[in-house]
Amino acid sequence: MSSTTRRTVAVLTILVALGCATTGARQGTPGRKQLVAHRGASAYAPEHTLEAYTLAIEQGADYVEQDLAVTKDGVLVCIHDLTLDRTTNVEEVFPTRFVEDKTGAAPVKRWLVGDFTLAEIKQLDAGSWFNAKFSSAKIPTFQEAIDAVGKRAGLYPELKDPAFYRARGVSPEKLLTDILKKNGLLTTLASARVIIQSFDETTVKLLAKDLPQVPRVLLVEPTNATRIDTQEKIKEVAGWATGLGPNKMIVAARPELVKWAQAAGMTVTPWTFRSSNTGTFPSVRDEMTKFLYDYGVDAVFTDNPDQFPRKRN
Ligand code: G3P
Ligand code: CA
Repeated sequence: MSSTTRRTVAVLTILVALGCATTGARQGTPGRKQLVAHRGASAYAPEHTLEAYTLAIEQGADYVEQDLAVTKDGVLVCIHDLTLDRTTNVEEVFPTRFVEDKTGAAPVKRWLVGDFTLAEIKQLDAGSWFNAKFSSAKIPTFQEAIDAVGKRAGLYPELKDPAFYRARGVSPEKLLTDILKKNGLLTTLASARVIIQSFDETTVKLLAKDLPQVPRVLLVEPTNATRIDTQEKIKEVAGWATGLGPNKMIVAARPELVKWAQAAGMTVTPWTFRSSNTGTFPSVRDEMTKFLYDYGVDAVFTDNPDQFPRKRN
């Protein structure tokens, strides 16, 4: 190796080290408010595409969220829904591969993620529904998301519909555990390169046993708000979860739960803050400011990472 090459390698090594240190410090700084990009920068690019994830990082995300489903051949892929219909052209590519959902007044055709192999899913256009300019976007695997995010931000995977997959004989918790181990992502609670989330208590409790060193957040829907409406109930949840992820309406209705959760050692990360729905707030930045600096939440999920108020103005 020439001395010039050696110097270049040394400089690159230092730069990489500085980059990692910056990211780690950013995510791990106590008291620093955390920006979680909800489905990526999903106000500006199709949710759960590498385009949305990359843009989220460019807009300063501390964490990039991945909702996870399982393919027929057992691969974790990034998609919010149990079905492919809303965000892809599956109906056009596989017109006969639907199941009929008869739970409503009239039967509805649904294309389940779990009925398609990864190779089939990769044939789908996951961007045109959002904007024609994203027609080449694909559904990423979780591995592709890990690779794309790298050390530039943290990962925030949510296991979607785990009971559905368990009923099919699949363990999404094991798939998640295996892929995090394979990628050396079982870091400490303090460094927290990965935070796991689920609405499913069974899932969060299983992960508390299998991955005690990885932070895990229990998500709470407005319909389940009574699950966390007293200090005692929150203390019980703190026995197996490290954070709460309540719908923002739950926090607005009972802001004291933030202090209760923090007193029990948990973080609070409400969802979802988006410019397309700010309720009575003039802007999504104003809404996030209220939650972060008046209610005192630790982090927020937002579709608009570029509007995140790093400081109170
Ligand atoms: O995971 C937090 C938030 O994303 C929950 O809502 O439906 O967007 O996954 P959803
Ligand atoms: Ca989610």
